[in-house]
Amino acid sequence: MSRYEDLRSNLSARPFRWVVTGAAGFIGSHLVENLISLNQHVTGIDCFLSGKQKNLDEALANAGNQSSFRLIKGDIRDMEICREACEEADFVLHQAALVSVPRSFEEPHLNNSCNVTGFLNMLISARDANVRSFVFASSAAVYGDQPEGPIREDAPLAPMSPYAVAKRAGELYSQVLSGGIRTAGLRYMNAYGPRQDPSSPYSGVISIWTEQLRKGQPLVIYGDGKTTRDFVFVDDIVQANILAAMADQKTLEGGNIFNIGTGVPTDLDRLLSLIVEAARNVRPGIADVTPRYMPARVGDIMHSRADITLARKTLGYEPLYTLAQGLEKTIIEA
Ligand SMILES: NC(=O)c1ccc[n+]([C@@H]2O[C@H](COP(=O)([O-])OP(=O)(O)OC[C@H]3O[C@@H](n4cnc5c(N)ncnc54)[C@H](O)[C@@H]3O)[C@@H](O)[C@H]2O)c1
Repeated sequence: MSRYEDLRSNLSARPFRWVVTGAAGFIGSHLVENLISLNQHVTGIDCFLSGKQKNLDEALANAGNQSSFRLIKGDIRDMEICREACEEADFVLHQAALVSVPRSFEEPHLNNSCNVTGFLNMLISARDANVRSFVFASSAAVYGDQPEGPIREDAPLAPMSPYAVAKRAGELYSQVLSGGIRTAGLRYMNAYGPRQDPSSPYSGVISIWTEQLRKGQPLVIYGDGKTTRDFVFVDDIVQANILAAMADQKTLEGGNIFNIGTGVPTDLDRLLSLIVEAARNVRPGIADVTPRYMPARVGDIMHSRADITLARKTLGYEPLYTLAQGLEKTIIEA
């Protein structure tokens, strides 16, 4: 049995109290769904900046139990909200953020208040409530543009956007202000899966393309199609959060920052053909797609691929979904 399966069966037998910030968002709602299915008590916080009530409704319906979930409709920029949520919590999974590189350039103060001040409010509230651990979403964006090849956590960092600067600030704050509680930062690569919002130009490419394909709309590739990304299915992100939350102090001594991806690079041209293939498996008869190529966008990095050795060795993290499997699940549930 893997460490994750082992943990899941232990958790089902023992309810803890969890806080999930950004609970109405894409990743947050999957954390809620999984934790509630494991008989855990969850307090979610969300101010609905980008989150949606329907994400939560769907998560709770899938989990089949609403009674052990409580939502605080509030903003992590408000310290009192953060303190109220953390009171008596065992674990905090901090996901809330302004999640957009382009928007962080357009509204750097909003980025800073949500992603730095809001982060600090949650870290300090978790610390003062003496929770067992504080796990937070960082991002591969902290690396900036790197030469092709897997990136290790100790690679030189070169944040290229206000969003990436804020994510790095959170990592550093977690190391100097934890007050002895366990903290772990997860540098997610490109997450995808059901409930990822396709409606904004800032959204993840998989959610946008699956939606455009479904509607028969033209598809755009920014750059020459050779840009690579490490796409990670949302259930593997959930896995990493649960493993990191339950990791003991000794496990985290070798470093508290982990890459969370698959380690497999996929370029955008290949991604498009995999999406079309997965869509055909679900809805036969979909025609070939010729994308339109547009110039790369400011702040977009050329290559991004994780070395996940540290998470594998120390947390027992093992991605469970290939891109083809994850895409099929994403398209079926869309
Ligand atoms: N999706 C990815 O590929 C990816 C990659 C790297 C890192 N991340 C990180 O993962 C986390 C979750 O991202 P997601 O993709 O689910 O995005 P999302 O936009 O779907 O979810 C973010 C949630 O946070 C909420 N939120 C934002 N500001 C808030 C505030 N001030 N107070 C309370 N709630 C607030 C939003 O309403 C939303 O529900 C974020 O921290 C993001 O930076 C995501």
